[in-house]
Amino acid sequence: MAEMSDVFFVDGMRTPFGRAGEKGMYWNTRADDLVVKAIIGLMERNGDVPKDRIDDVAIAATSQTGDQGLTLGRTAAILAGLPMTVPGLAIERMCAGAMTSVTTMGASIGVGMYDLALAGGVEHMGRHPIGGNVDPNPRFVAEKLVDPGALNMGVTAERIHDRFPHLTKERSDRFGMASQHKVQAAYDAGKLQPDLVPVAVKDADGAWGLATEDEGRRPETTLEGLASLKTPFRPHGRVTAGTSSPLTDGATISLLAGGDAVKELGLRPKMRMVSFAFAGVQPEIMGIGPIPSTEKALKKAGLTIDDIGLFELNEAFAIQVISLLDHFGIADDDPRVNPWGGAIAVGHPLAASGVRLMIQLAAQFAERPDVRYGLTAMCVGLGQGGSVIWENPFFDGKKKRK
Ligand SMILES: CC(C)(COP(=O)(O)OP(=O)(O)OC[C@H]1O[C@@H](n2cnc3c(N)ncnc32)[C@H](O)[C@@H]1OP(=O)(O)O)[C@@H](O)C(=O)NCCC(=O)NCCS
Repeated sequence: MAEMSDVFFVDGMRTPFGRAGEKGMYWNTRADDLVVKAIIGLMERNGDVPKDRIDDVAIAATSQTGDQGLTLGRTAAILAGLPMTVPGLAIERMCAGAMTSVTTMGASIGVGMYDLALAGGVEHMGRHPIGGNVDPNPRFVAEKLVDPGALNMGVTAERIHDRFPHLTKERSDRFGMASQHKVQAAYDAGKLQPDLVPVAVKDADGAWGLATEDEGRRPETTLEGLASLKTPFRPHGRVTAGTSSPLTDGATISLLAGGDAVKELGLRPKMRMVSFAFAGVQPEIMGIGPIPSTEKALKKAGLTIDDIGLFELNEAFAIQVISLLDHFGIADDDPRVNPWGGAIAVGHPLAASGVRLMIQLAAQFAERPDVRYGLTAMCVGLGQGGSVIWENPFFDGKKKRK
């Protein structure tokens, strides 16, 4: 009989994230090639892991057609040169796709069925516009199951501002600006670059270049600049391009392993999975989804929010992160939260983003032996949240020196 196993995040890498659309660096790059590049980069960095020992490859995409269709996990595994004996599957939970790849593969490891798995996601929002090519059942609106605005993520963010008037536009703007500044500081300190796999890209004239950094950053952001931006989701609204994650192309991948495989192969995991949870909320205010999913994950882990030393929260919208922080009594500028910035600055390629949060948390754990637990959490379209709690294997029980 297989025995329950610990689940470890051994390593993770991603492509640099590109601005979606014709002017973006990946306009002439296929979505599946982005994830293939990420897999190749991760397997090269973990060259001691026998490729034929990978039990499964789970790749998420929100839009599962065209170059994001055809059972991405399987096709990407073949294209990345993994042996034909390695199977693969595709996963879909909108923004939490890659997070669900990790929890699904993690669960398979946890029950002792798998030793090693790859889990990640990709979204080429330039080639696959958000909500494009879908046919929502008319009953959703006809029977008032959800408001039509629930399908527009920006409108749902405006609704959070409506519901919590003390979470003002000014607070959102400040949060959006901080994200830009923190990402640039992380770049300047060389924190993000080690986990990026460079991607060869072709521009509109057919000239080749190399993508090495996230393209959408705006380090020059000021509060004055943000205050003057249009509110695209509602006239005189409060959500702007400066407080929204931009439309983004990119891919992420992680290597997960069970306790026995870690010992046998001499792996040095970066994180241990403690618990995870998903939860549903009203689709009209989908951004508050990570509040109940975090409460569920904390309960499963027997922890409280005070046990969490580092937070990697996906910044779909500033207001949506602030609403979670407000719920748990955490300041908007708490240094434990997104210390290297977030999706407002680096971008949010929907089904890829969950693993980006994990990659950054893992890199921070390595520098912070004083922190035992970290949280990765995100909101999900149509009213969901996802949360995964991780333990730092480098935790040494000592308090951080001031
Ligand atoms: C918000 C959104 C509509 C903006 O799209 P866009 O208009 O194409 O975005 P742009 O990058 O062109 O920015 C719009 C303007 O704001 C400006 N701007 C954006 N960020 C800025 C910043 N930080 N500081 C100053 N100006 C900024 C741009 O320069 C641009 O100005 P211009 O119109 O004078 O050229 C789009 O990014 C979006 O839909 N985001 C949400 C995606 C989403 O729903 N994801 C899923 C989450 S669950």
